[in-house]
Order: sequence, then structure tokens, then C-alpha cells
Amino acid sequence: MNILILGGGGREHALAWKIKQSTSCTKLFIAPGNAGTAQSGENIDANINDFDAIKKLCLKKKIGMVVIGPEDPLVNGIYDFFKNDEEIKDIIVIGPSKEAAQLEGSKAFAKAFMMRHNIPTAGYKEFDESNYLDGLEYLKKHSLPVVLKADGLAAGKGVLICQNHIEAMSEFELMIQRAKFGEAGKKVVVEEFLKGIELSVFVLTDGKKFVLLPEAKDYKRIGKNDTGLNTGGMGAISPVPFAHEAFMQSVIEKVIEPTILGLQKENLEYKGFLFFGLIKVDGEPMVIEYNCRLGDPEAEVVLLRLKNDLVQLFEATSRQRIHEEKILIDSRSAAAIMAVSGGYPGEYEKGKQIDFGYLENPEAKKSIDVDGGVMVFHAGTVKRDNEIVTCGGRVLAVSSLADTLAEAVELSIEILSQIYFEDMYFRKDIGFEFIS
Ligand code: AMP
Ligand code: GLY
Repeated sequence: MNILILGGGGREHALAWKIKQSTSCTKLFIAPGNAGTAQSGENIDANINDFDAIKKLCLKKKIGMVVIGPEDPLVNGIYDFFKNDEEIKDIIVIGPSKEAAQLEGSKAFAKAFMMRHNIPTAGYKEFDESNYLDGLEYLKKHSLPVVLKADGLAAGKGVLICQNHIEAMSEFELMIQRAKFGEAGKKVVVEEFLKGIELSVFVLTDGKKFVLLPEAKDYKRIGKNDTGLNTGGMGAISPVPFAHEAFMQSVIEKVIEPTILGLQKENLEYKGFLFFGLIKVDGEPMVIEYNCRLGDPEAEVVLLRLKNDLVQLFEATSRQRIHEEKILIDSRSAAAIMAVSGGYPGEYEKGKQIDFGYLENPEAKKSIDVDGGVMVFHAGTVKRDNEIVTCGGRVLAVSSLADTLAEAVELSIEILSQIYFEDMYFRKDIGFEFIS
């Protein structure tokens, strides 16, 4: 079968690398892809939110399956677009329907869904222009810190944790009266602050049943010991040491099962990855957010540990037979470390030539695969005149597998010491709280 992946970051390179290994994959296309995905398939320049263009591409390349990496096309309804079009309705689409993607696309929808299905989450209230003044009163009396969330997608920037009432009220005003996060952010969820440690749990679901994938933890801050500005993610680890069996059992019973049952009860069509952003509070899981896709950089560790044929899992998902699949997970630890452009997440320059050191050597390249324990996943890279150059803030994710987390981190750092581009930066302390 010919397969098309939509997206162009580290997650999509990890998906491409994994899908290419499947015996069911004939030709692989990635739109738009990056210099790394070009090693697993053919990149095609396309706007992934232009569904007519994606349809044309699917017909031209005889695509049998489309795997969607990022959330925007899903929230914009790409699943429904395919299913409602005679010419492309039989193409397998990995992702939820537009309505189900609201679990990520609307914080208010997700919160109300959790309330309806008794899924543990922080207490909240929702406000917009119609009850703006009530919102200000509510905020004045709210415990601190208080969490404000823009309802719609805001490229990871729509959550504010406010330490005092004045800050909370002025941000609230900016969001509702001045559309700080756009029209969809004019609705605001005001939520209790939860104190605990976070992790990401992933399932692949066919809307009725699910399989549990390896859990992961990502590191969002730019600086050592989780300090400084938030980024798209500076690294990830899997497994997560505190996600032991009893805790994961609780996650399954209290969070995952009621969510999948909720999808069924509400007739929300869902055939894809579901990502639970969780926080462990007093030993129990609570949901911070749902995402309707794999995480980035979590995918770069999750897919490294997953031993199954991913296309086979997708086919089972599409036939609603996911429960017949047995998930096989590498018991080793994985650590991904992101190399980013100097200045990121603020302003940074693009177009820096990347030197891969001894990794360029064909002999060394052979060992840079999962058996050798290491993968260099590309994120913001592009090929220009036969050179690979940077074209984004997050540039490469070096993922390693080893017997212990400390060794996996060490291995990724060692590989990163071979890679150079001007002003390259990476965190050396990914997984720090679990390494003595
Ligand atoms: P989100 O965009 O929903 O992933 O939120 C971004 C980040 O904000 C999360 O990863 C958490 O670190 C933090 N956050 C969101 N909601 C809460 C909450 N209720 N309590 C504490 N931290 C939160
Ligand atoms: N790493 C978090 C996310 O992909 O949303």
C-alpha cells in the first residue's frame, strides 16, 4: 500500500522511519516532510490544510492510507473531508473525526466531556463575552495560582498560569476583549492549578477499544532543571520511572477506559492516536489535556520502543479490530534530546549548515539505526544545494535506547557531540529528576 504522512517535524520523521519498516508499505510520501523524512520516502511540497490539494495528491499517488501528524488538519476536519468524498472515502485515515478532534481543538469541549464521563480533572468554569463580568468576579476570589486556558488551538501558547489576581484579570481581559489568542481564544476556561508531576500517555484507538503504547515524559523548558521559557519540547524519555504498574492500572481504569467509552456513547468517530496529558496528584492521575495525535518529541521515544509493525496496527484500527493486536515494547529506556537553534524559543536564524561529523560516514551510518540504539530524527531541517541546513527552532532530535535511562541520555549526548551547526544548543539534563 502507498502511504502518505502529513507534517514535517521530528514526530513525522519518527513516523516515516517506523512506517517504512512495515512490509505493508510500498511507497511512502511525506508532505511537506524535512531532510530526514526524505531518507525514508519521497517528500512532497504541499499545504496540509489545503484538503483539495491533499485529495489530488492522494489520487495521483494512489494512496491507500493517510497518517496525520499534527493537530490542525484534524481539528479542521480532514477525516470527515475524506469520508464524505466518494473518490477518496475508502482511503484509511489515521486520526479522529472533526467532532472528536474537539477533545484537543476546544478546551471547553474537553472539560465538559470529562465532566460527563467522570474523568478526573481540575475543577473549572468557562467564560466568554456574555459572562465576562462574572468571570472577573470569579477570578478575584479564585485560589492562586490560577490557570487560564484559551479555548481554541493556540500553537501551544494558550495556557497561562497566573500567580496573582491582577495578572489573572488583565490576561483574562486581553483574551476575551482583545482576542489575544484569536477568535477561538475569546472563550476562556478558568481552572484550578494542580500540583504534581506530569507525564504523557498514548493509546491507539478504533473508537471502541484501544491498545496502550509506551508512556513518555517531555521536557518543555529551554533551560537546565526545567527553568526558563517554554518551548515545543527539548527532549523526552520513556518509560517514565514513576509510571509503575499500579499507577498505570489506575490510568487505564479512571482515565482511558471512561474516555473510550465516552467516545462510543457520544458516537464520536475516532481511529487514531489519543494522547492523555496527565498529572500525578497524590498518587492518582488527573487529566490536564487531551491531544488527538502523537506528541512531539514524545513520538521520538515512543516509536523507538514500539516493536510492532505500525501499519498493521493502523489497518487493525481502521477495521475496528485493534483489540486483536498485541503490543510489543522494547524494555530498554529511550531518551530523545532536541538540538535547537540559538535564541529559540525567541528569535533565531535559519539556514545554518549542519555538519553530522562521523555520522556522515556510511559505515557509521549503518550503526545509526535502532539496533545500534540511536536514531537522529530531523525536525527543522531542509536540503539546499546538497547540504542539509536548519529551517526551524527545533532542528534535530537524537533518540537513543539503552539498558538504563542514564545510559540512553549519555548516548544521545555523545551523538550530539558529533553534530554541529552555528549556535546549536541542547539540554544535557533530560531525565534529570530520575538520574542520581
Ligand atoms: P496544555 O496546553 O493544556 O498542555 O497546558 C500546558 C501546560 O500547562 C501543561 O503541560 C501543564 O504544565 C500546565 N497546566 C495546564 N493546566 C494545568 C493545571 N490545571 N494545573 C497545573 N498546570 C497546568
Ligand atoms: N510534547 C507535547 C505535545 O506534543 O503537545
